[in-house]
Amino acid sequence: MHIGFIGFGHMAKVIFDALDRAKLIPRSQVSFIQRDPQKMRENEKTYGITSTSMETLVKKSDLIILGVRPAQAKMVLEQLRGLDPSKMFVTVLAGVKMSFYRKYLKNPILRVMPNIASEVGMGMSTFSYSGKPSEDFRSITHLLFSCMGEVIEVPEEMMDISVGISGSGPGFVFRLIEAVAREGEKKGIPYPDALKMAAQTFMGAGKLVLKKGNVQNLLIQIATPNGTTEAGLKKMTELKIDEHYQAVVNASTKRSHELSEEFQ
Ligand SMILES: NC(=O)c1ccc[n+]([C@@H]2O[C@H](COP(=O)([O-])OP(=O)(O)OC[C@H]3O[C@@H](n4cnc5c(N)ncnc54)[C@H](OP(=O)(O)O)[C@@H]3O)[C@@H](O)[C@H]2O)c1
Repeated sequence: MHIGFIGFGHMAKVIFDALDRAKLIPRSQVSFIQRDPQKMRENEKTYGITSTSMETLVKKSDLIILGVRPAQAKMVLEQLRGLDPSKMFVTVLAGVKMSFYRKYLKNPILRVMPNIASEVGMGMSTFSYSGKPSEDFRSITHLLFSCMGEVIEVPEEMMDISVGISGSGPGFVFRLIEAVAREGEKKGIPYPDALKMAAQTFMGAGKLVLKKGNVQNLLIQIATPNGTTEAGLKKMTELKIDEHYQAVVNASTKRSHELSEEFQ
């Protein structure tokens, strides 16, 4: 199996790093192409993989991962028109719909919405396949992206809300962590310590939810009547934090929908 990356920027590097760490594929079976020849040479040295021409990459690769920016999609897809339909095609571009790719390609296609936490192996990737994927395509792509964290399959119509929840989600959590840490700092805890306390608390709470699977039970367990957690939760209710946070997710979802209107 040979993997070819078209575009080798931030996201492609995160994917390659995860595959490399998991030793899923030898470096000799990975190639890439990007625009800037200077960066291409630097990346060859840094990552130990070979850059090549588009023609060779397409010929050699069994699985192609598209990692350019959406604005560059049309230009690249023009070059891929008529791609051998036996090749598997994976795209990580946000907001470019399957119908857009279908204008150029007849291949099995997977749209992936990864998130930035993939960099630390705790990513959340949402998958949407064109039609019903073959067992091979499904298992290979699950294996590849599981190296970066969790994978969930959704119908394509759910891609925009997936952006709101997990694609852009880390950004909203960053803000919350920062807000909590700054409050700790205001009260006298050194900022690095307060930041660690806040980040570890978000991570631990998330892990516990994943382990137990039932948020209501955890809330009952933690909120002793008249206790400190209950006081905070009451304030959250009074401030309608849940509704406000849902509005944040919805704003991101709406923007994802607007952007994808351009690419259908
Ligand atoms: N970053 C994230 O957290 C994230 C999360 C989810 C999805 N995504 C999606 O991932 C995609 C890539 O994002 P990114 O942050 O990795 O962007 P990026 O760092 O700007 O990388 C884009 C890459 O595409 C290359 N490229 C541009 N035009 C090309 C062409 N005609 N032929 C070959 N290569 C070309 C660029 O090459 P040069 O550098 O040489 O110009 C660069 O290596 C985006 O579509 C985004 O929607 C990103």
